[in-house]
Amino acid sequence: MKLWSGRFKENTSELMDRFNSSIGVDARLYREDIEGSLIHSEMLKNIGLLTNTEFQEIQEGLKAILLGIENGSLTFDPEDEDIHMAVERLLSERIGAAGKKLHTARSRNDQVAFDLRWYLKKEISKTKELVHDLMGVLYERALEETGTLMPGYTHLQRAQPIRLAFYLMAYFEMFKRDFKRLDNAYGLMDELPLGAGALAGTSYETDREFIRNRTGFERVMANAMDAVSDRDYLIESASVLSIGMMHLSRLSEEIINYSSKEFAFFEVSEAFSTGSSIMPQKKNPDAAELIRGKTASVYGRLVSLMVMMKGLPLAYNKDMQEDKKQIFEALADYQISLSVMTGMMASMGFNRENMLRATSEGYLNATDLADHLAKKGMPFREAHDVVGRLVAHGIKEGCALEEIDLSVFRELIPGADEEVYEVLKIENCVESKRSRGSTNLESVLDMLNRAQEWLEAVK
Ligand code: ARG
Repeated sequence: MKLWSGRFKENTSELMDRFNSSIGVDARLYREDIEGSLIHSEMLKNIGLLTNTEFQEIQEGLKAILLGIENGSLTFDPEDEDIHMAVERLLSERIGAAGKKLHTARSRNDQVAFDLRWYLKKEISKTKELVHDLMGVLYERALEETGTLMPGYTHLQRAQPIRLAFYLMAYFEMFKRDFKRLDNAYGLMDELPLGAGALAGTSYETDREFIRNRTGFERVMANAMDAVSDRDYLIESASVLSIGMMHLSRLSEEIINYSSKEFAFFEVSEAFSTGSSIMPQKKNPDAAELIRGKTASVYGRLVSLMVMMKGLPLAYNKDMQEDKKQIFEALADYQISLSVMTGMMASMGFNRENMLRATSEGYLNATDLADHLAKKGMPFREAHDVVGRLVAHGIKEGCALEEIDLSVFRELIPGADEEVYEVLKIENCVESKRSRGSTNLESVLDMLNRAQEWLEAVK
């Protein structure tokens, strides 16, 4: 018999039961559900709605159920509609009459909102740690690669030479913002919905502050209707996860490119590669490809949540039961992707010679020559044109700028001397960047110092 079947004369169809059931997905909220009930029953006792004996029975019953679920001796019935009904059924079976009082001053609507918020708060905290781990690895790898030069790209065309450490720290900064976004999302969702009842509040003199205090939420939600209706914190979390996945996916894309024979800058460790069932020579960057692929899934879940919510009238609607699978799966995809990226970056091989060689072909020093001429008084637009002509000359002759004869320089740049060859040295091009946040060694070391401080401060 269903816990809500009082007004029903007929049984619901077996098909409807299966369709309606969410226990397969929301069972994972059992801990929050039971702990919430433990605290709720304590509050009920405090305000005189449960006798001491009833309270004791409920406490012991709930604790036994929690233990039973954790040690695997208790399993859910596929006929249980959801985790809330399952726990209540198990409790009533175990302790009888007192169990039936637990749901006083509470609705499944505020219960599910509470369980999910609490669960998500914990998951967001775990996720922050995973982002932190990845940042720690990037920092370590950058520290080893301050002297490694590589091409920087725009349009995937060689643009200017940079330090590998500078490149790695660009991702560090993106991940730092992902971390902060998680933190912000946590702060906004840190409000207690329990006690809102079905939608209008309850007619009992409940003590929501007691529950807030015991569950560690920052604030009590101000409006009961809002408390049971909104899922913006899920959408916000899914959006934060999507942005995080986007960053992981861009790095993945670069790992895939850079580990190809065509680039041969990176070497993905065997621990994070796979082989081919037909081509014996293959070592594929599947880990990076899977992260890129899972990014699409996470975006899909964000969009599902947004579309699910956009037309729902207040307050609770059953559509919202679909929210859990979206957020659970998005979290799982992001968390494992973070861990895999951390492992992959920790064990990544960097081919310093190939990266350095790549900086010497493709006129990556052209901008520096133009800047040099501009500093000597030539208007920058003119300097750009002059260097463009020198590049065209180099392309025609099949040589680099630094291989062009001084006499050719002099035809285009009156008074040019040996200094141009100094300017054109790749190391000098990297060091010539003086602005704050640029790729020169001092600035990269400064970034690394700040990174270390940040990593320690938020630990
Ligand atoms: N399983 C439901 C969900 O996840 C719990 C809330 C049910 N509330 C209701 N009024 N039917 O959304």
